[in-house]
Amino acid sequence: MSFDTTEHNRRRFSFDGVPSVWLFGYGSLIYKVDFPFLERRPAHIHGWVRRFWQGSHDHRGTPEAPGRVVTLIEQANARCRGMAYRIAPDVFDHLDVREKNGYLRFSTELAFDDGTGAEGLVYIATEDNAAYLGPAHEAEIARQIAASHGPSGRNDEYLIKLAEALRELGDEDPHVFEIERYLR
Ligand code: SIN
Repeated sequence: MSFDTTEHNRRRFSFDGVPSVWLFGYGSLIYKVDFPFLERRPAHIHGWVRRFWQGSHDHRGTPEAPGRVVTLIEQANARCRGMAYRIAPDVFDHLDVREKNGYLRFSTELAFDDGTGAEGLVYIATEDNAAYLGPAHEAEIARQIAASHGPSGRNDEYLIKLAEALRELGDEDPHVFEIERYLR
């Protein structure tokens, strides 16, 4: 798959007649809210874990020296906490460009804290995308993050803001917090 997923995402779903859509954010979409939303609620999804296994050529790194950002990896019985936003479908015009470096929109079941749920979309960078980096030891990931920066800023800012946002959501994410420990 090419580096730029914008067109793939535009063809993926038809929002005809749909007034609003739930979007689940688990990375920078939790703390960098540069889009309008109708409603926002903490939520989680089942069967996925957050991992700093995706390369960033356009935000927190460059094609020559990619940074590392999060994607979701399937894992039975896992639970990923994040923030759900109810948005107007045209907001995806902006989000598809923001998330264009390998992320595709997938449909998923969101669980809210009050026990209710909803169907929503989530951006996932799967293993077959051109910017995928894959697993590495948390110390190695921290080293790469410490050395990387791109048009959206320093890679360590992405990690630290995510760790802080997860603490505010009451989340325990050993992978993110261990990278943060190495980095600090
Ligand atoms: C997300 O936040 O849901 C996707 C990954 C990112 O933009 O950091």
